[in-house]
Amino acid sequence: MEGSGPPFRAIRRSKDQGGLLTCASQPARLAPILTLLSLLLISCGVGSIRCSSSTTTIHDNSTDMMSLLDFKRAITNDSSQALRSWHVGVPLCGWKGVVCSGPKHPGGVMGLNLRNLSLSGTISPSLGNLTFLRRLDLFSNGFTGEIPPLSRLQRLEYLDLGYNSLRGIIPDNLTNCSNLRDLSLSRNLLIGEVPSGIGRLSNLVSLQLGGNNLTGEIPPSLKNSSQLENIWLADNKLAGTIPDELGKLPNLSDLDLDANQLSGGIPETLYKYNRSSLQYLTLGSNMLGKTLPSNFGDTPLNLEALELEDNNFEGHLPASLGNISGLFLLDMSFNNFVGQVPSSFGNFGTLDYLNLRQNNLSGFIPIELGGLKLLNHLDMSDNSLQSGVP
Ligand SMILES: *[C@@H]1O[C@H](CO)[C@@H](O)[C@H](O)[C@H]1NC(C)=O
Ligand SMILES: *[C@@H]1O[C@H](CO)[C@@H](O)[C@H](O)[C@H]1NC(C)=O
Ligand SMILES: *[C@@H]1O[C@H](CO)[C@@H](O)[C@H](O)[C@H]1NC(C)=O
Ligand SMILES: *[C@@H]1O[C@H](CO)[C@@H](O)[C@H](O)[C@H]1NC(C)=O
Ligand SMILES: *[C@@H]1O[C@H](CO)[C@@H](O)[C@H](O)[C@H]1NC(C)=O
Ligand SMILES: *[C@@H]1O[C@H](CO)[C@@H](O)[C@H](O)[C@H]1NC(C)=O
Ligand SMILES: *[C@@H]1O[C@H](CO)[C@@H](O)[C@H](O)[C@H]1NC(C)=O
Ligand SMILES: *[C@@H]1O[C@H](CO)[C@@H](O)[C@H](O)[C@H]1NC(C)=O
Ligand SMILES: *[C@@H]1O[C@H](CO)[C@@H](O)[C@H](O)[C@H]1NC(C)=O
Ligand SMILES: *[C@@H]1O[C@H](CO)[C@@H](O)[C@H](O)[C@H]1NC(C)=O
Repeated sequence: MEGSGPPFRAIRRSKDQGGLLTCASQPARLAPILTLLSLLLISCGVGSIRCSSSTTTIHDNSTDMMSLLDFKRAITNDSSQALRSWHVGVPLCGWKGVVCSGPKHPGGVMGLNLRNLSLSGTISPSLGNLTFLRRLDLFSNGFTGEIPPLSRLQRLEYLDLGYNSLRGIIPDNLTNCSNLRDLSLSRNLLIGEVPSGIGRLSNLVSLQLGGNNLTGEIPPSLKNSSQLENIWLADNKLAGTIPDELGKLPNLSDLDLDANQLSGGIPETLYKYNRSSLQYLTLGSNMLGKTLPSNFGDTPLNLEALELEDNNFEGHLPASLGNISGLFLLDMSFNNFVGQVPSSFGNFGTLDYLNLRQNNLSGFIPIELGGLKLLNHLDMSDNSLQSGVP
């Protein structure tokens, strides 16, 4: 691989914590600058006006180039040579995954798209200097170490560091990136709490922090992120109750809090008012309890999937659930529901999956369920139901 020869490796090995800015790294940083300067001298005559205007642009690029070369230097394994174009002999905008600004957004490097390239090593803090960055996508690689300091990236709209092996906390000052619309740190090894100031991200549309070991409560400040549509916090260790505030997000479409340690009931705000935006409500494998209110489903709900399995819900299955006519998945298994299966369940014209396994349901299975023409999966085992599906 050109551009990441032995000198870079030697520098990297000499430190563990990604502290790439020691004196030792200066010679390595100088070499590309010198190459760049000589390229400049070759490509344009000394003193011409045209040349001096392009020098300004290239000066900006060279700062970005330094940051990106630092980033490359911190990568310990690039077995597919994905970054082989990353060296001073190739114009910056020709480097794989590097998106340069166009006339619409003048400035430096605007995007870094390095999804799923089997890169490993740490993420260099130098990325925090790419202040023109709008999109940073390192999804599905083998990055280790901590989330680098990105709080100066005021233009960042899309940040995906999901499916890596990042450790440590989610820095609170990440909420300084006030233009973030998509934030994904899912499937890493992160600990600590969801930053309490997350609501400062007022442009957030999608928040994906699932599959870590996050603790603490779901911050009520999320209601300030009023454009949120997707929240995925599943597979963590979040405790406390589901904040009422989540139900007040006007465009919330997908709320997945599966497999945490949440307790209490389902906030009324999620079903009592017109919640026509909500399509997927996934709250399985928690410690949620109480009865489901008899008016669940009375107000217009466009739910397509309702997953409450493996909790401590008790009482009757409300007949009003049958009003949620667009459901394709209903999972109430592994709870303590009692009484009969409501005949209104026969209204689920589009239902594909119905699981009521392991509750204390009794009586006959209503004949109306025979009308569920699209049902592919039905499990009512481990109850006290009378045999004979109609
Ligand atoms: C510097 O960036 C600008 C746009 O951001 C681009 O047009 C130009 O080709 C770049 N120069 C080099 C040497 O990569
Ligand atoms: C990642 O790339 C591999 C091939 O290198 C491909 O098989 C896999 O589906 C990709 N995964 C994702 C999530 O894009
Ligand atoms: C480098 O990464 C590739 C792909 O992930 C892996 O197969 C290989 O074993 C790694 N090499 C080293 C030296 O870790
Ligand atoms: C970021 O830029 C500042 C000022 O330009 C510089 O002092 C610092 O070393 C850079 N940090 C990294 C991690 O590259
Ligand atoms: C937050 O962003 C502002 C610019 O809006 C910047 O001046 C400040 O240094 C940033 N704070 C942190 C902690 O990075
Ligand atoms: C942001 O927070 C992290 C972790 O708490 C810290 O290491 C870093 O120095 C902070 N950055 C700024 C600019 O304050
Ligand atoms: C979470 O922590 C447990 C140990 O408490 C560990 O076994 C598990 O691998 C961790 N999971 C993640 C995603 O970090
Ligand atoms: C949320 O908005 C309220 C009122 O607009 C404000 O007082 C509060 O500081 C904001 N919280 C966060 C975390 O941004
Ligand atoms: C909700 O979505 C609609 C339609 O996309 C949009 O016009 C509206 O601004 C959004 N509301 C908020 C608070 O983001
Ligand atoms: C519910 O809200 C949707 C869109 O926000 C609207 O179209 C519909 O008329 C409302 N229904 C009721 C009964 O208020």
